[in-house]
Amino acid sequence: MKTINRRHFLKASAIAGAGLALAPKLSFAQGTQSNNKPVLLGGRKPSYNFSRWPIYDQTEEKALLEVLHSNKWGRLNGSITTKFEAEYAKIHGTAHSLAVSSGTSALYTMFGALNVGPGDEVILPVYTFVASYNVVVLNYALPILIDTDIETFQIDTKKMEQAITPQTKLLMPVHIGGSPADIDTILAIGRKHNLPVIEDACQAHLAEWKGKKVGSFGLGGAFSFQSSKNLNCAEGGAITSNSKEFIDRCYSFHNQGQGGTGTSYEMGSGVRGTNLRITEFQAGLLLAQMSRLEQQARKRSENAAYLTRLFNEIPGITPAKLYRGTTNSAYHLYMFRYDQSKFAGLSRDRFIEALSAEGIPCSRGYGQMNSSDYVRGLASNKHYLKIYGEKTMKEWLERNQCPQNDKLTKEQSLWFTQTMLLGERSDMDKIAEAVRRIQKFAKELKK
Ligand SMILES: Cc1ncc(COP(=O)(O)O)c(C=O)c1O
Repeated sequence: MKTINRRHFLKASAIAGAGLALAPKLSFAQGTQSNNKPVLLGGRKPSYNFSRWPIYDQTEEKALLEVLHSNKWGRLNGSITTKFEAEYAKIHGTAHSLAVSSGTSALYTMFGALNVGPGDEVILPVYTFVASYNVVVLNYALPILIDTDIETFQIDTKKMEQAITPQTKLLMPVHIGGSPADIDTILAIGRKHNLPVIEDACQAHLAEWKGKKVGSFGLGGAFSFQSSKNLNCAEGGAITSNSKEFIDRCYSFHNQGQGGTGTSYEMGSGVRGTNLRITEFQAGLLLAQMSRLEQQARKRSENAAYLTRLFNEIPGITPAKLYRGTTNSAYHLYMFRYDQSKFAGLSRDRFIEALSAEGIPCSRGYGQMNSSDYVRGLASNKHYLKIYGEKTMKEWLERNQCPQNDKLTKEQSLWFTQTMLLGERSDMDKIAEAVRRIQKFAKELKK
């Protein structure tokens, strides 16, 4: 019953976020300091209840000590990793899960299992953490960076389909910020062109599309448990899949080409492998952290939905929309757009400065990965020139142009982090009030 109520609530908030229905009017008075000056102009700095991170107690301590005293510290000796995998698959509604050493390892392992290599093209969004790009390049495949749907911050599926060539090996959407990409459309493109879909769900623990968890739609899903993530064991990752054959291949790749028994090269000749195993300490820590995961996810969703309703009332602040199929976002990031014309021309950087003075951390987020020296340098990498030739690499630079992403990231995009959403509802009120204060005094705040 609880779940149904929550789903309905989230659905309503997702729709409000998508601007498809008008959210009820909210009152901003509430005895607060909306008439006060911003801190930068001498106002008083409010206090907040943003969460510390990570959150832990004796549960984690006990889990770590149990592994320590068991003398079984690695997955090949112990049983905690297997237990974690069973739990992780269960909460994601997949038949299988494989724990690995990081989110990057999860992606890299799936690429290994699919035998991605030189000459292959992989389609992914430009608006993502650089790890998504790195795994493609580690395999000497060609990363095709797709422009952004400016309203959702997610991959533009129209441009995704247009980028497919006979060399395309797989589609790798990223559920950026923890919000689902347009899954139905991406799966339809995959089916139409007979291409596997690998979901980079590294930021999207427990996010849902039409009531099913992300990471359960494609051939495989990748999750990260790096320190900042909504589920954290310092460094770690997991693959989710419904295919036994695929997960066995992944197991073998992450375990030096060997199967679960560790005694034979079970995947046959010609396949590759490495060591990307997780430890029992990480698995123990993850099981302990998972005891709080759902409650934390609920709190983030509720606060984010409330903040979206408040922000929808502020001209010049536009929360990232959620696609219609979204029944839950993981809200690893709270992403929104800033329009300086509604703030008397106050620059985005100055707005960030003013918010930060109010005690509200805010960042511009990802930039233009396609035009970074790091990525453009690939066109002169000697191995890439050998594999693809100068003409293809020059064309590749052209193919990676992303004008919508340029517009979004150079002028508009902003983020809050997940720990802020673990604060109280009153903190969301305070965030909105601070934004209103800055808007009201925008002229004075301009340098
Ligand atoms: C979208 C995305 N993909 C991949 C990764 C890589 O995960 P990890 O840092 O665990 O290797 C991250 C981590 O930040 C990420 O945000």
